[in-house]
Amino acid sequence: MDAIPELREKYLQAIAAAADMDALEALRVAALGKKGEISLKMRALGQMSAEERQVAGPALNGLKAEIDAALKARRAALEDAMLEERLKAEWLDVTLPGRPRPAGTIHPVSQVMEELTAIFADMGFSVAEGPQIESDWYNFDALNIAPEHPARQEHDTFFMHRAEGDNRPPHVLRTHTSPVQIRAMQAQGAPLRVIAPGRVYRMDMDQTHTPMFHQVEGLAIDRDITMAQLKWTLEEFCRAFFEVDQVELRFRASHFPFTEPSAEVDIRCSWEGGQLKIGEGNDWMEILGSGMVHPHVLRAGGIDPDQWQGFAFGMGIDRIAMLKYGIPDLRAFFESDLRWLRHYGFAALDQPSLAAGLSR
Ligand code: PHE
Repeated sequence: MDAIPELREKYLQAIAAAADMDALEALRVAALGKKGEISLKMRALGQMSAEERQVAGPALNGLKAEIDAALKARRAALEDAMLEERLKAEWLDVTLPGRPRPAGTIHPVSQVMEELTAIFADMGFSVAEGPQIESDWYNFDALNIAPEHPARQEHDTFFMHRAEGDNRPPHVLRTHTSPVQIRAMQAQGAPLRVIAPGRVYRMDMDQTHTPMFHQVEGLAIDRDITMAQLKWTLEEFCRAFFEVDQVELRFRASHFPFTEPSAEVDIRCSWEGGQLKIGEGNDWMEILGSGMVHPHVLRAGGIDPDQWQGFAFGMGIDRIAMLKYGIPDLRAFFESDLRWLRHYGFAALDQPSLAAGLSR
């Protein structure tokens, strides 16, 4: 084994030349590890005579301290060098302009759903939901539309597929949001005030019809609800929604199997020069069907028609979005054309609140 001066020379040189942390650690183990050269020498002190030990002991301790210090110094130097490297490699130009992130927009239908939910919530209506694939009982029978009733054909229904030999009536894509009336009555009983916005489906396609569109159902049931309250509620809604005092509504006597009496409501508008405007002009656009809930319908919902009565309406959400925001063609709503979405879409933070006003 080398004598102390040789060991000292060997390790101090090697440590000063160590290129990285691994090399440095290997040197530490070789010198000061359990079986390191210096550790072994220290262990050998026990076999020495007292005089020898007196000389060798302090010399070894001094060497150990010196090597320790050299290891630490080299480690610090290597760490500094590594940091220097990283600072050179990972620099960041904070003066560069930010990369733009294109933000999506809120679809007019979503925007209008938020708006009308806020208005009806203010009048005490909560939101109810139902499935888009509906049984024919909820979509038709419970709403007093008998199997042979022509209204079933009028609705241009999409029927779901049944396996061969399965003769149960097929489910349907709901043709209106009215089945949610039944579900809400069953779930909550009377008295009741709900709206139910959502998608509905009919085989139909032109400038104001698409096979999928949106309705919002309204239902209010109490002991003494009348047609007068229906009229007030709808007028109040239109004033708040369209933000014009002179919205003109036209109630036309009509017929639905699930309401008696029934009325359809049109709104005054103009289509001049391909521009759609409300509150002026000589055209009328039908926006909703309504009436007093038929006793059969209340009974189907588990509500006693001798105790309770109410009104219901079903309004076209896409229609009122077209009217409010002057969008002339309904088909474009569902074509996902980015240019259209950017033009007619809303900023994500442009959420309606009654206090802030509902306009853009
Ligand atoms: N469900 C009817 C439709 O889709 C609208 C309506 C709802 C009429 C509620 C009266 C009462 O045309």
